[in-house]
This record gives sequence, structure tokens and C-alpha cells, in this order.
Amino acid sequence: MQSKIINLPKIVDPRGNLTFIEEENHIPFKIKRVYWIYDVPGGEIRGSHAYKNLHEVVIALSGSFDIVLNDGKEEKRWQLNRSYYGLYVPNLLWRTLENFSTNALCLILASEAYDEKDYVRDYETFTRLANETSG
Ligand code: TYD
Repeated sequence: MQSKIINLPKIVDPRGNLTFIEEENHIPFKIKRVYWIYDVPGGEIRGSHAYKNLHEVVIALSGSFDIVLNDGKEEKRWQLNRSYYGLYVPNLLWRTLENFSTNALCLILASEAYDEKDYVRDYETFTRLANETSG
């Protein structure tokens, strides 16, 4: 499955809008972990690694940032700037988070608990794994 935007419900209300996520309706995996990235200084870059097995959905709860996804052959840049869009990111993609706006809040729903052994932090190892997997 490729990366794709998941449209989350938006309940528009003059008192303030509301968006929600139901694991079984909106997320293509069982959520094992939720974490968030915040207070990112201007110009900083997070991520720049791949996961062997982990899938995730990334949401810009506040502000904006870019996610750059690379499958070992092609690169795709997504700009996230709406709190009612989630970006589904499957495993075995090199993913980098950058261009954080002031006060950006990046929420990540992950299919696995934290496991350093699931990370691929070396780009050459990643391209080898990605090319083996895509045949
Ligand atoms: P990491 O995922 O490597 O972030 P980035 O790729 O943006 O540098 O996480 C940074 C550190 O935080 C890493 O040393 C491990 C720790 N960490 C946890 O302990 N639990 C978690 O759920 C996450 C995401 C990170």
C-alpha cells in the first residue's frame, strides 16, 4: 500500500471545529503507540530513517511541516497543514520531516511500540532493503 491522505471527519461549529479518529474506521492498522513532535526550532529536520515493519499516520495538529518520502527510487513531498488530514505512511519508506512552522505540532499514530531494531538509519542499507523488497 502506498502513502495516502486520510480524510478525517470535521465537525464545523461556530464555537470551534472538532475532528476525531476512530481506529477501526480511519486507521489501516491497530494503534500501538501515539507520540508527538513539538518545539521544533526553525530549520531543524526530524526523522531521516525508515522502518522495517512500522506503519504510521502523521497529522499536523497545529501549524505545518513537510514529509518527504522516498521508496529508494522516487521521492514524494507532502505538505501537511490541516488538522483533519492524516498521512498514511507504510513501512520501508525513507521519511524525513522538515520545514516545520512556528508552533507546529506533529502527531504520529504508530502500528508498533518503540523498537530501535525496527529502524533503518543508514540510507544505503535502506535502498538495498527497498530494492530487494520491490523485486
Ligand atoms: P527518533 O524516532 O530517532 O526521532 P528522529 O528520527 O526524529 O531523530 O527518536 C528520537 C529518540 O527518542 C530516540 O533516541 C529514541 C527516543 N524515542 C523513544 O524512546 N520512544 C519513542 O516512541 C520515539 C518515537 C522515540
